[in-house]
Amino acid sequence: MKVIRTISEIRTEMRNAQSNHNNKVGLVPTMGYLHEGHASLMREARKQTDVVVVSIFVNPIQFGPGEDYETYPRNEAHDLALAEAEGVDIVFMPSVSEMYPTPTKTKISVSDITTLLCGASRPGHFDGVTTVVSKLFHIVKPDYAFFGMKDAQQVAVIEQMVRDLNMDVKIVPCPIIREADGLALSSRNVYLSPEERQQALVLSASLRAAQSAVLQGQLTTATEIRALLQEQITSSPLAEIDYVELLHFPELTPLEAAHRIVEGDSLIMALAVKFGRTRLIDNALLQLQKVGDSHV
Ligand code: PAF
Repeated sequence: MKVIRTISEIRTEMRNAQSNHNNKVGLVPTMGYLHEGHASLMREARKQTDVVVVSIFVNPIQFGPGEDYETYPRNEAHDLALAEAEGVDIVFMPSVSEMYPTPTKTKISVSDITTLLCGASRPGHFDGVTTVVSKLFHIVKPDYAFFGMKDAQQVAVIEQMVRDLNMDVKIVPCPIIREADGLALSSRNVYLSPEERQQALVLSASLRAAQSAVLQGQLTTATEIRALLQEQITSSPLAEIDYVELLHFPELTPLEAAHRIVEGDSLIMALAVKFGRTRLIDNALLQLQKVGDSHV
């Protein structure tokens, strides 16, 4: 496994890799502190592509003032060992000055779908994400890029950017990976105290409850589904709701309050909830006949 820290070196490496035109390149963009969720993306990339590149870069421009950029967990030795164990070919680990040598004056900004859900509580966050992801796409020139559905809004935003700008890369959304007790894997789970972690199980539990109530026909409208999620989450004393939403997916358009779930609807239940200082997100796809996220 090669570890590359400069843009000029990775460009040379990718030119060599792509000189064999049959080689498909897969990129797994990450911010490090890798866990089983990232490993599952690497395994999918290994399955679908010939050259697997993992980028590890804590991207300062996607953090707002007062957010956890400085304290975001980092562990280079652990990350390299995990990537190596997953058979990754190249890890690209640039410094901040390598990615942003001068203050950036250009940004990629997707409108509308970036101002709701996480975009409402984290203004500018998605501009930071789309800007760095498009820089990574320009640097690595992947054929495929792999993203976890825990950040479902991020997947929808990146797919929109790729469509709008005719980027020549296929986005591969991959399922949420959960702990055995249901907690969605996240690098930020490390911030949770044992009690907060226990109470955070209410997120996946409430999504499961809503899914099964819809499948059994007990809940049929958007209002009822939101109410059930709210009620279950607020039963956890430490939970402080940021949002509980039900939207069309991947369009991320709101549902009328009285919308009745019908066959063929593709919906997402999306949650952001704080436990102490830690803001967690989780989601599940919802369809009348078919449940999209079998891991919930
Ligand atoms: O999902 C993440 O870890 C980040 O938002 C990404 C896509 C690596 C961009 O910094």
